[in-house]
Amino acid sequence: MGHGAPVTTWSDRIGRLAHGGDYNPEQWPEEVWTEDVALMREAGVTMVTLGVFSWALLEPERGRYDFGWLDRVVDLVAGAGIAVDLATATASPPPWLTTAHPEVLPVTADGTRLWPGSRQAYCPSSPVFREHAAGLAAAMAHRYGEHPALAMWHVSNELGCHNARCYCDVSATAFRTWLQERYGDLDELNRAWGTAFWSQRYSAWEQVLPPRVAPAFPNPTQQLDFRRFSSDAVLACYTTERDVLRAITPDVPITTNLMVTDHVDGMDYWRWAPELDLVANDHYPVAASTEKHVELALRADTTRGLAGGKPWLLMEHSPSAVNWQPRNVALQPGELLRHSLGHVARGSDGAMFFQWRASRAGAEKFHAGMVPHAGTDTKTFRDVVALGAALGALGEVRGSTVHADVALVYDWQAWWASGLDSHPSVDVDYQEQVGQLHAALWRAGVTVDVVAPGAPVDGYRLVVVPTLYLVTDEAAAVLARYAEGGGTLVVTYFSGIVDEHDHIRLGGYPGAFREVLGVRTEEFFPLRAGESTRLDDGSTATVWTELVHLDGAEAVRRHEDGPVAGHPAVTRREVGTGRAWYLATRLADEALQGLVGEVLAEAGVSPVVEQQPGLEAVRRRAEDGTGYLFLINHAGEDRRVEVTGRVLVGGGGEVDGAVDVPAGAVVVVREPASG
Ligand code: GLA
Repeated sequence: MGHGAPVTTWSDRIGRLAHGGDYNPEQWPEEVWTEDVALMREAGVTMVTLGVFSWALLEPERGRYDFGWLDRVVDLVAGAGIAVDLATATASPPPWLTTAHPEVLPVTADGTRLWPGSRQAYCPSSPVFREHAAGLAAAMAHRYGEHPALAMWHVSNELGCHNARCYCDVSATAFRTWLQERYGDLDELNRAWGTAFWSQRYSAWEQVLPPRVAPAFPNPTQQLDFRRFSSDAVLACYTTERDVLRAITPDVPITTNLMVTDHVDGMDYWRWAPELDLVANDHYPVAASTEKHVELALRADTTRGLAGGKPWLLMEHSPSAVNWQPRNVALQPGELLRHSLGHVARGSDGAMFFQWRASRAGAEKFHAGMVPHAGTDTKTFRDVVALGAALGALGEVRGSTVHADVALVYDWQAWWASGLDSHPSVDVDYQEQVGQLHAALWRAGVTVDVVAPGAPVDGYRLVVVPTLYLVTDEAAAVLARYAEGGGTLVVTYFSGIVDEHDHIRLGGYPGAFREVLGVRTEEFFPLRAGESTRLDDGSTATVWTELVHLDGAEAVRRHEDGPVAGHPAVTRREVGTGRAWYLATRLADEALQGLVGEVLAEAGVSPVVEQQPGLEAVRRRAEDGTGYLFLINHAGEDRRVEVTGRVLVGGGGEVDGAVDVPAGAVVVVREPASG
C-alpha cells in the first residue's frame, strides 16, 4: 500500500462493517437532515460519503469557502455515531472555474471542446485544474482533518469516468513529456511506434500528437501509449490531492473509488492500486443481464486482486435501478442482500451505496436511493434495514481474507491493445473471454483470485490466461516457469501475440506462449458472424479458429469442419513437472464447462462446497483459522449444504451437519478453526 500509509486501518477507524452511501444533504432543506439521520440509525448505517459534488457550494468563488452547512452535517452524523468518508469535493469543477479558465475543459479526439453543465468537465493534465483541486483539498484537510468522525479521505470521485482521455494542446504537451521519459529520444520512439510504416517518421518532438481523428487508422502503438499516458495523467490528479492530504493529515487513510467493470476502460488499475491506502470500488451490473451475480463475482475478485488479497471496500452499488442504462431494471426482493453480501463474501469489509436519498432534481432523479421517492414503506428501505442488521451480525468478519487455488491473469493494457482497430476479428472480445472463463470457474464452485501479468503464481494449483494478446517477455516467462514447475496453465486464443510495443512476435503464434504450450500456429482463420464449427467430441466452437501445428503438445479436441477441419482446437502439453493447455478456439459455454471440469480435476482443485446449480459458496478466513462460509442461493429452488458451525445470517443457532439455504436467500456460517 501507499508509501508512508497510516498505521490504523481504515476499517478499525469505522469499527464495524461499512454500511451507508453517498449522502448529498445539500440537495435537501435542513429539516430533512434530521429525518435522514434518524432513518440512518434505523437502518444501522455506519458510514456516509459526504461532499462528492459540493465544490460549487463549498468554494463559491476562488479561495472563499463556505463550510457552514458541511460543518453542521458532519456534526449531525457524527452525533449519531456515524463515520464520515469525506470527499475532497473536487469531482466537478464549478462554473466560475470553467468560465475563468475555459482551457480547463476537455477536448475529444475530433477536436471538440466539451462544455460545462454536466460533471467532470476538465482535462486531467490541466495544471490549472490540478492547482485549484489541490487548493480545495488542502482547505478540506485543514477544516476537517481533526474531526473524530473522519474515517477516510475520498479523493475526487470515480476519477476518469467521463474524461479519461483528453486530446487538447495541454494534453499533447504532457504526452510528449511522458514519451520523453519513456523513450529518451525520438529514435527510440520511432522504433517503438514502428513509424517506418505509412511515412510516419518523426524528426522533431513537436510533431508528436495525441492520436486525434485521422483519415485512416491511427498508429496503434501511439494509441496504446496514449492510453497509458492518460491513465497516468488521471492518476496524477489523485496523487496530487493525496500528497496534499497526506502532508496535513498523515494519519487519515486516503482512497478514491475505482470502477472495476467492463464499461470503463480508461485506467490501468494495477498501476493505481499501490497509491491507495485502501482499495475501494463501485460496482454497477448491467441490468439486462440475467446473470448479474456472476459478473459481480468477477469484479469483486478483481478488486480483491488490486487490494493484494487484503480487505477492500465496496464504495458504491445501487439499492435498486440506476438511471443510465437503456432499460433500468429494478432489483427483485432479496437481490440487494445477495449483491451486498456477494461483495462481502469476496473480501469487502462493507457494502456502501449510491445514494442515501433519491434525488428530486437533476440527471440522476430516477436513480434508486436507499430512501426512495416513495419513502420508507418500501421494499428498498426494508431491504436496506435488513442489510444493516445482517452487516451488524457479521461484524466479526472484518479483516478476514479469501484464499483461492485458482488464479486468472487480467490486464488493462492487454484489454486496450486487443481492442485496437484493424485486427483479425471484431468478435475477439477481451472482456467476453475473461467473463466466459471466470463464469465457468464460478459454475464449478471454485474461488478465483485475479492477478496481474508477471505476479507470482507459484502458490496456485491452476492459472488461467484468457486472451492475453499483449504480454511482456518477463510476464510470459513467469507463466512458463509456473507450468514447468508443476503448475497447470490454461491459455486461450489470441494470447501472446505482441510485445509491449504492440509488435508481432515472429515465428508463429501464440508468440510468447508458443514454447510452453508446444504449438505453432501458422495462420488465423476467424469465423464469420454466427458461424460455428463442430469438434470431434460433438461440441461446438465459434468466433475463432487457427491453423495449429503440434510441437510437443497433443491434440485434445480437433475441428471436424470449418476452415481448419482436422486441425487441433484444444491442445495439452506435459511440460517439466506440470502441464499447459491451449484453447485455440472459442468453445461454446457447455464445452468450456466440461473442459474446465477436466482441468480442475487434473489440477486437484475442489469446489468450496459440493457444487449445486446457482449456489455461490465463498469462504473468508480469520487469522486464527475461523471460517466464515457465505452461501448465496441464486437459484429458484432451496439448497442444502453440509457444514458445521454457528449461523450468523439467515437464521441462527448452531448447525451440525447441514444447513438449508432457501431459494434466493443468503446464509453465513461461522465455522470453528479446526473445521
Ligand atoms: C457513479 C458515481 C455516482 C453516481 C452513480 C450512478 O458510481 O460515482 O456519483 O453517478 O455512478 O450510478
